[in-house]
Amino acid sequence: MPRTLTLLGIESSCDDTAAAVVRARDGQPAQILSSEVFGQTDLHANFGGVVPEIAARAHAEKLDHMVEAALTKAGVALPEVDAIAVTAGPGLIGGVMSGVMCAKGLAAGAGKPLIGVNHLAGHALTPRLTDGLDFPYLLLLVSGGHCQFLLAQSATKFTRLGGTIDDAPGEAFDKVAKLIGLPQPGGPNIETSALQGDPKRFKLPRPLLDRDGCDMSFSGLKTATLRARDALVAEHGGLYRQDQSDLAASFQAAVCDVLAKKTRRALQHSHAPAIAVAGGVAANKTIRAALEQVANEAGARFIAPPMALCTDNAAMIAWAGIERLRLGLVDDMSLAARPRWPLDDTAPAMLGSGKKGAKA
Ligand code: KG4
Ligand code: ZN
Repeated sequence: MPRTLTLLGIESSCDDTAAAVVRARDGQPAQILSSEVFGQTDLHANFGGVVPEIAARAHAEKLDHMVEAALTKAGVALPEVDAIAVTAGPGLIGGVMSGVMCAKGLAAGAGKPLIGVNHLAGHALTPRLTDGLDFPYLLLLVSGGHCQFLLAQSATKFTRLGGTIDDAPGEAFDKVAKLIGLPQPGGPNIETSALQGDPKRFKLPRPLLDRDGCDMSFSGLKTATLRARDALVAEHGGLYRQDQSDLAASFQAAVCDVLAKKTRRALQHSHAPAIAVAGGVAANKTIRAALEQVANEAGARFIAPPMALCTDNAAMIAWAGIERLRLGLVDDMSLAARPRWPLDDTAPAMLGSGKKGAKA
């Protein structure tokens, strides 16, 4: 096994086509030599969500170009990589299949090992790529498609402590933005609008806070926001800008409270010395600050990787591939694309699935 590993990573499980080259030397921080992401947001903009067929076709068209761009930017030729890592699930099956087929073709053509990576493991191992974090640690994954607490114990052992039983928080941000007349993506627009709002004006529910464990629920909160909006519309025929901001601030405060309280509980249960966040919702400054405070109170280290590595990317897949290769875990041409692939297969199946497809 060489002491320096250079991997090509490929990601196509949702609506981002991505390729990256990551190099790791034993005992030194890993280097991201390139990380190319082509987002498909515009392609799906008219449909109110990701359309699996459109996504799969776009991935199939773009993957070769992204791989070429990633290798060129990294200054690495295909024969120089040690292996090819690819997201083999969970995600939208057409996209995952496009990625797996592309990786198989490259691996067979160049005579390189093929490594199938779980997309969620990619997110979960990112704090080791960015901050060299040691196991064990807690990860809160909060995006448009995922919401779960994972205790990372090794590169192959993750325990799910809880997750959403319905919507993912990013999905709730997007739907609530639509309800109160703010543009997509909802998260950043709600955050901006909330800056002018009163988070205490509307008494919105904090679902499942009274229940033990780390499960969460966001769909009732969305419905409660809808009712508050309807009451305002019935009262004065529409929403004033201040109403919009107060609704945004009250909704954001409720999400923030749920995430913070459940994070405190997850830290207490797991005794993890560190907590890392990942996913688009981790960009929210109010939520980030609340989580950091909870971590500080619990005496745990708080890690928030740079945004480009919190959202979907292929550097995390290349890195997860490096972790697997170091353990001697490689796949062969029988590697299959899996729409569902829970990281912790001992945990009961999640009830909910995000708008971007069933995840785990
Ligand atoms: O991780 P991500 O880029 O994509 C996947 O879900 O795969 O997350 C996107 C989600 C969207 O729902 C978006 O509204 C939300 O993250 N988001 C935010 C913020 N920025 C993005 N939510 C709250 N506050 C933000 N600042
Ligand atoms: Zn993701």
